[in-house]
Amino acid sequence: MKANFSASLSAVVLLICFASCVNERKPQDKKNEFITALMNKMSVEEKIAQLNLVTPSAGTGPFKTKRVMEKLKEGSAGNILSVMGSVERIHKTASLADSTRLKIPFFMALDIIHGYKTIFPIPLGLSCSWDTVLIEKTARIAAIEGTAMGYNQTYSPMVDITRDPRWGRVMEGAGEDPYLGSLVARAVVKGYQGDDLTDETSMMACVKHFGLYGASEAGRDYNTTDMSRLTMFQSYLPPYKAAIDAGAGSIMSSFNDIDGIPATANKWLLTDLLRDKWGFTGFVVSDYNCVQELIAHGIAGDYKDAVKKAIDAGLDMDMASEGYSTFLKELLDEGEIKIEEIDQACRRVLEGKYDLGLFEDPYKNYDPEKPAKVTLTDENKEVAKLAVCKSIVLLKNDNNTLPLSKNAKIALIGPSVNDQFEMFSMWSQTGDKQSVITIFDGIQKLNEKVVCADGTFFTDDPDYLKNYGRYEDAEQLQMEKDAIQIAQKSDVIVAVLGESIAMSGEAKSMTDISLPGCQVDLLKKLKATGKPVVLVLLNGRPLTLGDNLQYADAVLEAWRPGTMAGAGLADVLFGNYNPSGKLTMTFPRSLGQIPIYYNHKNTGRPYTEGEKSAFKSRYLDEKNDPLFPFGYGLSYTTFDYSAISLSDTLIAGENNNLVVSVEVSNVGEYAGEETVQLYLNDPVASVVRPVKELKKYHKVFLEPGETQRINFKISPDDLKFYNSNLQWDWESGKFIVYVGTDSEEVKTASFVWKK
Ligand code: BGC
Repeated sequence: MKANFSASLSAVVLLICFASCVNERKPQDKKNEFITALMNKMSVEEKIAQLNLVTPSAGTGPFKTKRVMEKLKEGSAGNILSVMGSVERIHKTASLADSTRLKIPFFMALDIIHGYKTIFPIPLGLSCSWDTVLIEKTARIAAIEGTAMGYNQTYSPMVDITRDPRWGRVMEGAGEDPYLGSLVARAVVKGYQGDDLTDETSMMACVKHFGLYGASEAGRDYNTTDMSRLTMFQSYLPPYKAAIDAGAGSIMSSFNDIDGIPATANKWLLTDLLRDKWGFTGFVVSDYNCVQELIAHGIAGDYKDAVKKAIDAGLDMDMASEGYSTFLKELLDEGEIKIEEIDQACRRVLEGKYDLGLFEDPYKNYDPEKPAKVTLTDENKEVAKLAVCKSIVLLKNDNNTLPLSKNAKIALIGPSVNDQFEMFSMWSQTGDKQSVITIFDGIQKLNEKVVCADGTFFTDDPDYLKNYGRYEDAEQLQMEKDAIQIAQKSDVIVAVLGESIAMSGEAKSMTDISLPGCQVDLLKKLKATGKPVVLVLLNGRPLTLGDNLQYADAVLEAWRPGTMAGAGLADVLFGNYNPSGKLTMTFPRSLGQIPIYYNHKNTGRPYTEGEKSAFKSRYLDEKNDPLFPFGYGLSYTTFDYSAISLSDTLIAGENNNLVVSVEVSNVGEYAGEETVQLYLNDPVASVVRPVKELKKYHKVFLEPGETQRINFKISPDDLKFYNSNLQWDWESGKFIVYVGTDSEEVKTASFVWKK
């Protein structure tokens, strides 16, 4: 009887379970049902509005949308970029959605690139920390500050691989390496989007610029790119893929063409690769005015044709050109495109809004008091200060000029030492200038004996200076004189030189990336005083410093540091923080070496410096090697590396691992952090392989006298590359492993691995 009762009880339980499983809808089904029901209510015009992104700002292109607010209100535009101002104004703009028939919330997009109000160092600088936990934190803070203002999408991260510092936009990315670039891409996406996109502090990431924009020919912005599929897959595509795998909800098509077809109309890129191969389910927005620009590229006869080509290729949203809102309906009526194309793009955009939770709460818990509570908090500033410290790269330190003594009389000289705005970059338009700690203030807080002077203009280019409304030779001479006067009375000179804010960023390509003549003049005169000179560089790209390095005893690369500029820099100058940054872009000796990057292929005639033979791959008038290689960066202490030990030198099979290890010792006087880097080379393969590729790295903090063994686990995955059939695979044979402090100063060992 008892047994019978328990049997029937379990049957009932099973039945209940089954019934509830049948009733329980998966989140994906719920989403599909919701979107389908919504789309069933939408007219074609309403669907097209979802694909239209307008902007009230001057923007970065020739097209300026008219009647922006009216369009949002009447429902002919469903998204807006760069509405700025007070939280109330932004909210009022977002609320215009309520006056449309279906009240579909807008994407409120903005370029939040390296912080919203709290500005962090530029992404190139941040990447030099090689600290993905810190980088993720900076993105999280940017998301918290940005969402509090009402933004729900940011056009970041820029993950373009960059090998040409003439291109002004190298400042926006993580440099030249696909492995590190992928880790940074993932960290930034995670930071913006958090664990749950519907959270009120989560902002949708938009990965850009898809694709290959970093390879703009000759470093000229908006220019064409041309590369082999092998290079594309091996070196340029991985960071986009990593960002997508990390869950980025949107991606931006780039300005350039790929294999002759502009990215914005490139079906291979936007559909075959992105959707069919990589499985991306978010939406693609064009870059600024790209749809219209298909005409100038020469692949569309007129505007309507451009729109057809873009939607056919798989472009979902049109930024600022308003081609979609003008021509999609006409194209549909004429039978030139199918309704399924509009539906598909509209569905993707609506899904993005759904994923963000906007249909539940369009304003993500709007509270006009929130920005004041969450922006520029002490905690945010602390992270920003640490980010400044960690992004700084010590390039030179003769005679231990650095760190400075806190009692030294310091002459602080440079055109931006007292300038808050100059600590920002082209992409810090939302930053709070008043909160910036200038270099002078930062140093003065730790050493009251500092005095300062401008010393020079940024440049002697009269055209450039006209924009600043000043240029007089006499004025320049007077500035130099004043600076030298204070320099003579000092114990040490800190010269802050490099680029002004207006010299890097979008549309800031340069054919000369050396220090401007007037700055070099000043530097020479400062050196001639006989006082030690510390050169602090503020810039958005690697510079060709060449012979000018001799006029400085120590050099710190401090990028464009942001809100906590002076505080972070002062900590590094006085040794409160021992610099640990490592370059993520090679510094060339001269312009003629560009493009120059560490993971280049070998040639049939590789040249070794000093060799006599003439018919080798080399320059007559310049060395092959860079001024500072990828991964380079000194410390106030010295790290010693033991020889490499390998767990095995002959390994067989796919399921095996190899442990590569070194002992790293701090043999100097300061505690410090070292980034131990591991590179691999496959010397004999079916395709030519790079001379070295970064495969792993490990950050270790060591007290003076401390030693740690660092172990790296290598698996066959680390040996894989794209072969000539574009298959991602590895080949048996010998491999060379390098471990060291940068991509050139390494210990070497080798092993054989057979399939
Ligand atoms: C840039 C993008 C940016 C967009 C919107 C374009 O000119 O290339 O990176 O997101 O403008 O501001």
